[in-house]
Amino acid sequence: MKRSVIKGTGRYLPSRCVTNDDLSKMMDTNDEWIQQRTGIKTRYWIPEGETVGTSDLALEASKKALDNAGWKPEDIDLIIFATLSPDIFFPGAGCFLQTKLGLTETPALDIRQQCTGFLYAMSTADAYIRSGMYNKVLVVGAEVHSTGLDKTTAGRDVAVLFGDGAGAVCLEGIETDKNVGIISTILKADGQYAEKLKLELPASKYPERINAELLKTGGQYPTMDGTRIFKLALRKLPEITHEVLGKAEMTLDDIDMVIPHQANLRINEAYLKTLGIPAEKMFNNIQKYGNTTAATIPIALDETIEQGLVDPKSSTVLLSALGAGLTWAAMIYRFGE
Ligand code: UT7
Repeated sequence: MKRSVIKGTGRYLPSRCVTNDDLSKMMDTNDEWIQQRTGIKTRYWIPEGETVGTSDLALEASKKALDNAGWKPEDIDLIIFATLSPDIFFPGAGCFLQTKLGLTETPALDIRQQCTGFLYAMSTADAYIRSGMYNKVLVVGAEVHSTGLDKTTAGRDVAVLFGDGAGAVCLEGIETDKNVGIISTILKADGQYAEKLKLELPASKYPERINAELLKTGGQYPTMDGTRIFKLALRKLPEITHEVLGKAEMTLDDIDMVIPHQANLRINEAYLKTLGIPAEKMFNNIQKYGNTTAATIPIALDETIEQGLVDPKSSTVLLSALGAGLTWAAMIYRFGE
């Protein structure tokens, strides 16, 4: 049976560490509020005044994943790039990454799926691999948020949450009788909540893609009904976790580590409590990086392996996420070949 297995992972965070105290110099906020409400202590932003695109961060993460996998760029059959912050409006960040990797014909596909982008990308890669169309897929989740945030008090509810960063995974099809690799996936979306977390401009529905009134009121910045999204996450993350476990005919006892999306430490603590698992079975790094959207899960995956919390030869991990769309998703992955 064809299974999609991870051959290598990599991550990259830009060098500029921004503390909560740094933010309090830009807007009316403070370390206590940010830590209490979100768990975030620092985040990493691209260097001020430099032109760094999402594909630049992705390139660094991809090089590390390729190294770990023992792949050369020419080995890649397909690039899938999950991001809500592509370098420019079009073409997609995948095309920029492809040329930066020195490739000239390798297909490159962007997935615009926000917080669940990496899981949607992994499941797309898995489907291509199982179909036999492509066998070696570079799956990337990367974001540059810092250039698109309202860093005044008006935007503080969103600006303090987000960080820049990239994570990458080399996914390859192998023939095996073992129950390894991507074991089960569930993807969901509910567009009735699309307006609850969104970035309006630029928008093809407006002439010149800009609406002057909206521009005056910050339509170029993301807005979020945080409380609504928070409540949806508390309900839907545990639900989809049990659903994906059921699909895989597994229980939480079969899972060595839950690696959730990093949107808010309080969400993940409540999620942990609802699942009834010990704290050491859930990984969080939002304290250091903030919310890097499509990059949170591949960054965390790389870090758990590096820290020896996940054994890349035998561990079973459960990945889950919820965010803009509304979209939510979960995946069970077992290391080993
Ligand atoms: O990854 C994408 C998915 N996103 C999520 O899952 C995020 C889900 N939501 C959340 O994480 C939380 O709702 C937030 C962290 C965004 C907000 O936390 P909250 O506990 O829901 O706070 P709130 O929005 O109800 O705001 C409470 C107060 C307000 O003041 P008043 O009206 O009570 O006087 C806000 O104006 O905190 C104020 N506030 C701030 N104060 C200091 C909002 N942002 C800030 C800030 N610093 N940065």
